[in-house]
Amino acid sequence: MCGIVAYLGPKEAYPILINGLRRLEYRGYDSAGVALLNDSLEVYKTKGKVADLENFVKEVDLRGTIGIAHTRWATHGEPNDVNAHPHFSQSKEIALIHNGIIENYAPLRSELETRGYVFESSTDTEVLTNLIEDIRKNENVSLFEAVRIALNQVIGAYAIVVIDAKDPNSLIAARKGSPLVIGIGNDDYYIASDATPIIEYTRNVVYLDDEEIALISRSSDLKIKTIRNKEKTPYVQELEMNLSALEKGGFEHFMLKEIFEQPQSIRDSMRGRLHADIGSVSLGGIIDYEQKLVNAKRIIIVACGTSWHAGLVGEYLFEDIARIPVEVEYASEFRYRNPVIYESDVVIAISQSGETADTLAAIDLAKQKGATILGICNVVGSSIARATHAGSYTHAGPEIGVASTKAFTAQVTLLTLMALRLAQLKGTITKTRFVHLLNELERIPDKVAKTLQSSKKVIEIAEKYKDVRNFLYLGRGYNFPVALEGALKLKEISYIHAEGYPAAEMKHGPIALIDEEMPVVVIATNKGTYDKVVSNIQEVKARKGQVIAIVTEGNVAVYGMADYVIEIPETEEMFVPLLATVPLQKLAYYIAVMRGCNVDQPRNLAKSVTVE
Ligand code: M6R
Repeated sequence: MCGIVAYLGPKEAYPILINGLRRLEYRGYDSAGVALLNDSLEVYKTKGKVADLENFVKEVDLRGTIGIAHTRWATHGEPNDVNAHPHFSQSKEIALIHNGIIENYAPLRSELETRGYVFESSTDTEVLTNLIEDIRKNENVSLFEAVRIALNQVIGAYAIVVIDAKDPNSLIAARKGSPLVIGIGNDDYYIASDATPIIEYTRNVVYLDDEEIALISRSSDLKIKTIRNKEKTPYVQELEMNLSALEKGGFEHFMLKEIFEQPQSIRDSMRGRLHADIGSVSLGGIIDYEQKLVNAKRIIIVACGTSWHAGLVGEYLFEDIARIPVEVEYASEFRYRNPVIYESDVVIAISQSGETADTLAAIDLAKQKGATILGICNVVGSSIARATHAGSYTHAGPEIGVASTKAFTAQVTLLTLMALRLAQLKGTITKTRFVHLLNELERIPDKVAKTLQSSKKVIEIAEKYKDVRNFLYLGRGYNFPVALEGALKLKEISYIHAEGYPAAEMKHGPIALIDEEMPVVVIATNKGTYDKVVSNIQEVKARKGQVIAIVTEGNVAVYGMADYVIEIPETEEMFVPLLATVPLQKLAYYIAVMRGCNVDQPRNLAKSVTVE
């Protein structure tokens, strides 16, 4: 969603702000803006990307040691110059940047209009800005107090930073439902919607909690209150992020870099957890909840998008080896459909960003019903990581490309470890099989590296199909979620319509789509339902469809049937998703590049979806 960055200190603010916006551009990228306070408070904003903002401000005076800046992902009002942030209040005495949605903005706006406020934009943010101004004037309170009172009237989600034209010495920040981090330097402060713009200046950060409001001032220590006026002591944490993880490192795109990082990111997800030599799995983050898992009658997995696909792999894993029923739910559906939740249920919430609004709401609901909630998140300190009872981080490192790649394989790795540990605890697996699986899992990073070795075939396939309008992806069993994920990757970044289907379901509908123009990606690895999937390939060929098959290396049978074949190394059936996903990520990547698409920042998408 939107990206927030702000600075207060002795240095020039603009270079820090623009650098921060570049780091945050992956979050939102339809418009950008900056407000700087020197002799006067000036706002510069424009539709487009951060580079467009840089061009826009080329000729202006950018001096000032305090400022706020924003990249937008439109919710209320189309992406244009006027709707871009920061928003001035009517008197231009304050300016504000905002991430989130003010749900009751319409009645608030009407009320303010009756009091003479005229709105320039269609945004909910301008409403909040004028609400704060109105309260400050009418109630004759400080800006901090006016922000606090205003936030008590607001329904919805927000991370905001407010700057006052008359006060060059302080900023006010607050959050509810959208993350906000305050970096504390030697003599300065850096505020951002995630830690990526902060890490190069300081490792000491305070994560604001929901409904907290902070006064950031040159002359005093950081002061935090809740919006109900209760003082809080700031809790300073140390960031563990590595700056090089935020750079492209010689790759053309973040997505490609992240695809190629997978041998390492999978290894990092296993580090200190998988001990094949002594035949054990330990997950420190959930150790206190292992008995809850053992006693649970059911696991419910909640997630969205790619994380939901990882959850589906989790369902197969837990049911297969730990013999426990699993339901996998879209968090957005779960939260509104009055689901049956028992206190004995264990809910696993999966999220790369740890900020997805629907997943957070699903967690809240399950918590209210007394279930135990475990999290699988990538971003350390994220809202979901904090909202769950316990959890395990995926440790995949920052994922900047909007299309999730290494986060998915890290999530699947973690779910595999959890399922193995639970199977061991429940005694649903023999010791020999358990140790065999651990040894094979340990080999997976090397097998992913092997899968990545050559891109020649994938590039050839991409070249051939880059201009088609539709793609179908088929898989069965563990490979069904892989088919879904392959299709999602392609549609997200290349804008080609793609559907993932369980292979056997093809004949119940999608087969009608197949003609000589239709490429069908079939994941036909050995084991499981291999023979049946081969029959599906023949059904596609009988209708003149084009088949791209992902097979286990050494499989010669499919070569005679498919138009293209990509081999992946042999492994246990349950580990195949960790390998089969990789060529599909590459296929989507190369097709998108050949079509001239913006791979890292596909249109309309945002990296973390912090609104409904
Ligand atoms: O951060 P989360 O894992 O909770 O995000 C969930 C989805 O928004 C995300 O996976 C989305 O589908 C990605 N664009 C997939 O590439």
